[in-house]
Amino acid sequence: MEEKYKLYLGDTRKVVAEMVERGELVDVIFTSPPYFDFRKNYSGDGDGEVGSVHVDDYADWFLTFTEQFLKVLKPNGSFFLNINEKIDNGVVHPVIDELKYKMRKQGWKLVAKPYIWYKKQAMPTNCKYRAIDRYEYVFHFSNSNKPKFRADNCRIPYAESSKTRVKNPLTTIDSRDGKYGRKTDVKLNEKGSLPHNVIITPAESNPSVLHPAPFHVELAEWFIKVGSDEGDIVLDPFNGSGTSGVASLNHNRKYVGIDMIPFNIDFTKKRIGYLEETGECYIPKKELEPLGIDVNYYKMKGKHVNNP
Ligand SMILES: C[S@@+](CC[C@H](N)C(=O)[O-])C[C@H]1O[C@@H](n2cnc3c(N)ncnc32)[C@H](O)[C@@H]1O
Repeated sequence: MEEKYKLYLGDTRKVVAEMVERGELVDVIFTSPPYFDFRKNYSGDGDGEVGSVHVDDYADWFLTFTEQFLKVLKPNGSFFLNINEKIDNGVVHPVIDELKYKMRKQGWKLVAKPYIWYKKQAMPTNCKYRAIDRYEYVFHFSNSNKPKFRADNCRIPYAESSKTRVKNPLTTIDSRDGKYGRKTDVKLNEKGSLPHNVIITPAESNPSVLHPAPFHVELAEWFIKVGSDEGDIVLDPFNGSGTSGVASLNHNRKYVGIDMIPFNIDFTKKRIGYLEETGECYIPKKELEPLGIDVNYYKMKGKHVNNP
């Protein structure tokens, strides 16, 4: 890909199928898809653009996308999927389990336990039966059991206690006979510890994003850095406000974004333009209108097209 980024307006399944035909493959997919709904016959906002899919149909619907994602991913590529559980009438619906099971049958390999996106702040809630929800999942799927994984891009400093513990050989369990006693020298990596699987960011509270369901740019940055090298191509097939786009370009990756709402594609162009001009991932609220962005787009009745 010659350009630094490409934005496509259209249905993702069609756009990705055309990319595959042209041989435009990508290294990483990072995305948060539209969520399911629990109401029967829910058809979104009534303007016919994007309606939510009923939770019972969601896995099969999503598989029509992942079928194309398998084809567009280069060997050893990663598909990072941000998704959350939902509770229906007091009970967690098994849609996430169904999705994982069906994606496995489709050919995907789930190569890690779910990553936890922990949000530093959360909206106060008032539920009698469960604790406040402060995290979402990011699943790491791949077409290989040895995906590209650049831990060095996300290493963190060792705890002082770890540094002290490895000064002397550590006693380990001999895995063959289960007995304690073997002394092993453990060497710390000079670049730091492996990153852990809880990613902590602020909740997405930047009002300038306008989109009703954005993730925080630091979340996208972490997965893009760990799953790719500079110059690699990142795809967000549900582009929204273009958060994955600014995260990719900010770390010298190339970006392909797809969305079926013209407003989102237009907004993303302006957001990337602003990044290129200023180095900032968010356009300040007061600069939205001067850039010709309709700040009321998502406030208007009928524009909450997904993620209820
Ligand atoms: C959860 S939002 C993504 C938000 C994004 N991560 C951000 O930070 O702004 C999902 C997006 O998928 C888009 N979308 C839904 N169905 C689509 C389809 N079939 N083809 C293309 N885009 C679609 C919606 O317009 C919406 O912007």
